[in-house]
Amino acid sequence: AIERTLSIIKPDATARNLTGKINAKFEEAGLRIVAQKRILLTVGQAGTFYAVHKERPFFGELTEFMASGPVVVQVLEGEGAIMKNREVMGATNPADAAPGTIRAEFAQSVGENSVHGSDSPEAAAEEIAYFFSGLELVG
Ligand code: CMP
Repeated sequence: AIERTLSIIKPDATARNLTGKINAKFEEAGLRIVAQKRILLTVGQAGTFYAVHKERPFFGELTEFMASGPVVVQVLEGEGAIMKNREVMGATNPADAAPGTIRAEFAQSVGENSVHGSDSPEAAAEEIAYFFSGLELVG
């Protein structure tokens, strides 16, 4: 089925001017960028977005990192987009990421791992709605 998923290009990647190279990986995999904006999150906004992780020991580090510089939030559309995006990103820890994946090529550590992608259809719907209105999604 054609799906939509929420992707974030994280501050470590925007700082290194990697937005275009990361977007090329998505497009080469057949994912279409149907919405995209560059924003600066507050720590509070990052905390709301990552609320499922709020009991984790790395929550403070995660939310401060996500607010430390610009992020590019985007909606990717395509056949099986949620799983396909996770394949293109590679494993959360770049040490475990398969060759050719975004995290294998660009990520610096498990925290500074260049990209986020929704992990389920439920999360995708919730995460897309957090950043975008329906009018901003142009397929
Ligand atoms: P992401 O897919 O954005 O979802 C939650 C994020 O938490 C994850 O990517 C990692 O970047 C981050 N994360 C997971 N484990 C750790 C950790 N041990 N230390 C710091 N950040 C982590």
